[in-house]
Amino acid sequence: MTTTPTAGPTTAVAARATELSKTYGQGETRVVALDRVSVDFRQAEFTAIMGPSGSGKSTLMHCVAGLDTFSSGSVRIGDTELGSLKDKQLTKLRRDKIGFIFQAFNLLPTLTALENITLPMDIAGRKPDKAWLDRVIDMVGLSGRLSHRPSQLSGGQQQRVAVARALASRPDIIFGDEPTGNLDSRSGAEVLGFLRNSVRELGQTVVMVTHDPVAAAYSDRVVFLADGRIVDEMHAPTADAVLDLMKQFDAKGRTS
Ligand SMILES: Nc1ncnc2c1ncn2[C@@H]1O[C@H](COP(=O)(O)OP(=O)(O)OP(=O)(O)O)[C@@H](O)[C@H]1O
Ligand SMILES: [Mg+2]
Repeated sequence: MTTTPTAGPTTAVAARATELSKTYGQGETRVVALDRVSVDFRQAEFTAIMGPSGSGKSTLMHCVAGLDTFSSGSVRIGDTELGSLKDKQLTKLRRDKIGFIFQAFNLLPTLTALENITLPMDIAGRKPDKAWLDRVIDMVGLSGRLSHRPSQLSGGQQQRVAVARALASRPDIIFGDEPTGNLDSRSGAEVLGFLRNSVRELGQTVVMVTHDPVAAAYSDRVVFLADGRIVDEMHAPTADAVLDLMKQFDAKGRTS
């Protein structure tokens, strides 16, 4: 079964991949990481991307976020075609429009929590909106830890710094590659609840790769990948429904 999830005419699209393919290597070592993937990520929607290891989740996210090149097809962030951009323009678009949360938090060890949060804006020469920044910091519960360095923070706190950093500049879209993969379930739940609130209350757009059905249940929609293709989609997911579908895929994988 192949589905092509696209937004209806009334919903604005934050990012769109059309017939997106990415291959690695040549000849015998050639790997098709993405095979003509078409998908929309709508504004103010929380999308989870799931699928087995090696199914192309990170590749899809990196290509749509302008972090990686693709072999064919096209990617749009808002109204901008990534393929039409020069390197400098792409760097600027990433900096101005996109927020990232990685599994390894990528915080700078010599900077305080607050300095890490405002770093992307400092690099861009932009002044943070103070009221917004306070709101974000308050929401992630870091007010008492702003002058701490990453080594003085727990894993969950470091991840919350990474989330605050992604939200602080009010990007058009936030991408997270297993943003809670390194957290215990309570810290993970906090970060996920915060991401969901940012979508519900602030209209943020979030795309998150995850292996965890419980994490996926925080999203509005789950897109399932297998072998570089989108094989299914689920709206208003629950952890049980996601788990059931994953079991079906596993069973199919064993019999084919
Ligand atoms: N730099 C690379 N060179 C060659 N093949 C690669 C490279 N990066 C990824 N691949 C291959 O592309 C496919 C998709 O990889 P990708 O990292 O997107 O998977 P994933 O779904 O994110 O997996 P995981 O859940 O393990 O993170 C895999 O088969 C992988 O081996
Ligand atoms: Mg991955």
